[in-house]
Amino acid sequence: MAYPDFSMEHQWLPFTPNRSFFKDPRVFVAADGMHFTTHDGRKVLDGISSLWCVGAGHNRKPINEAITRQLGTLDYATAFQASNDQAFRAAQMIAERAPGDLNKVLFCNSGSEAADTSLKIALAYHRARGEGHRHVFIGREKGYHGVNFGGMSVGGLPANRKVYGAQLLPRVDHMRFIHDPVHHAYIHGSEPVWTEDPLLELEQRILPLHDPANVAAIIVEPVAGSAGWYIPPQGYLQRLRQICDKHGIMLIFDEVITGFGRLGVNFGADFFGVMPDMINFAKCVTNGVIPMGGVICSDRIYSAMMQSHGSSPDHAIELFHGYTYSGHPVACAAAIATLQLFDEEGLFERAALMGKLMGDAVHARIRGLPHVVGIRTLGLAAAVELRAGAVAGQRAYEVFLRCFQRGVLVRPAGENLVLCPPFIVEPAHIEQMVEVLALAIAEQA
Ligand SMILES: Cc1ncc(COP(=O)(O)O)c(C=O)c1O
Repeated sequence: MAYPDFSMEHQWLPFTPNRSFFKDPRVFVAADGMHFTTHDGRKVLDGISSLWCVGAGHNRKPINEAITRQLGTLDYATAFQASNDQAFRAAQMIAERAPGDLNKVLFCNSGSEAADTSLKIALAYHRARGEGHRHVFIGREKGYHGVNFGGMSVGGLPANRKVYGAQLLPRVDHMRFIHDPVHHAYIHGSEPVWTEDPLLELEQRILPLHDPANVAAIIVEPVAGSAGWYIPPQGYLQRLRQICDKHGIMLIFDEVITGFGRLGVNFGADFFGVMPDMINFAKCVTNGVIPMGGVICSDRIYSAMMQSHGSSPDHAIELFHGYTYSGHPVACAAAIATLQLFDEEGLFERAALMGKLMGDAVHARIRGLPHVVGIRTLGLAAAVELRAGAVAGQRAYEVFLRCFQRGVLVRPAGENLVLCPPFIVEPAHIEQMVEVLALAIAEQA
C-alpha cells in the first residue's frame, strides 16, 4: 500500500475506526460509473452506492452540467424570507413523485436533519390543533434516524446511543425489532409471514403506558437499512398505519435509504402500499453529489399549520424551523437533474430487475458458507448475516477489509455484510461482488 502524497494528520474520520484506518488507508481520488480509483491507483467496485447515495452511478454528466450551470446562474440565495426558482422546481418534482397528498416539501441538508425536522413538525402540528400535550415519540429497536439528538433518541442502535444516553430526549419509547432469526433467517425478495403479531406489544404495553393521546409520532424505516437490511413482516406497516389512525398519531417513514428507487419504485410507501403522514428523504435525491435532505408532509399538516395562524399578523412565522441551506439552489439543480436522469434511463425499473438477479445470486452462492446464519434480499439490496464471533462485529469488519483488498466495497453493519450497488449495475458486476464476498467469507472461516 502506497501512502498518499498529502498529509493525513488532520482529518478525524466519521463512523470509522480511525486507529485501524490509518494502518491501511482507503482513500478515493476519482470515480466513474460503478468504480472508484484509489490513491494507490487501484480500481474498486462501489458495491454500496457510496452509502446508498449514488443510484445513477458516479460522474454523471447531466448532473454535473446542471450543477455547473446553476453555479453560473444563481450560486446561493438566502432561504429565509425569500427563496429561489430551483427550490420550487425541485419541490414540485419530489411532491409529484410522492404518494397521495404528500405535497409539501421542507428542505434540509441530510437525513439526520430530516429526522429532527419531521419530529419537530409533528409536535408543531399537534400543538396547532390544540393537542400540545402530545410529546411522546416512538421509534423501533435498531432503527437509524441519523445522529442528531432527536433522530438519535428515536433511533435504536445501541452503539449510537450509549455514550450520549444521559442527554437523549425524554418521553421516547421503542417498539420491538422486526427480525425473527429462527423462522425467517433467509428472506428472498418478499416480506416474511409471521405467525405472531409484532405490534401487539405496541398496542398492549407501549401505548397504554404513555397513553396514546400523549403520543405525537411513530417513526420507522420501511426497511431497516443501517442495521443491516431487515425486512418488515407482511402487513406490519399496514397495521402500524391503522394503529396510528386509531389514536391520532403521526406516522413518519424515514425513507433516506428506501426513497428514490432502492425498492424499484419511488418510495417504500409505494412498495408496501402504506401512506405515512411524512416521508423523510436524502441521499439518492441528488445522487449523493450535493448534500440534500427533506421532509415531504401531507397537505393536512401544512393546512393545519397555516389555519392555526389564520388570525395572526402577516409577519408571524408559522414554523420556527429551517436551515441556512434549506433548498440550496445548487443542491436543487442537482436534484432536478438526478430525478430527470432516473426517469430518462428507467433506473428504478432497472433497480428492481437487477435486485432480483442479485438476490438470486447471493442466495445461491453464499447460503451454506461457514458462519452464514441468514440472508435477506429485497429490492436492490442484500444483507448476509454472519454468526457473531467473540467480539461483536469483528467478523463482518474483517470480511469487509478482505473484500476491499479484492477490489469490492461492501458495507459492514453489525454482523452483516450489505450489498446495495448503484441502479446502473450490470450482471457482470453482480457476479463479481457476490463472488468476492463469498471468497472473503470462506477465507474468514
Ligand atoms: C434511515 C436513515 N435516516 C437518517 C440517516 C442519516 O442521514 P445523514 O447521514 O445524511 O444525516 C440515514 C443514513 O444512513 C438513514 O439511513
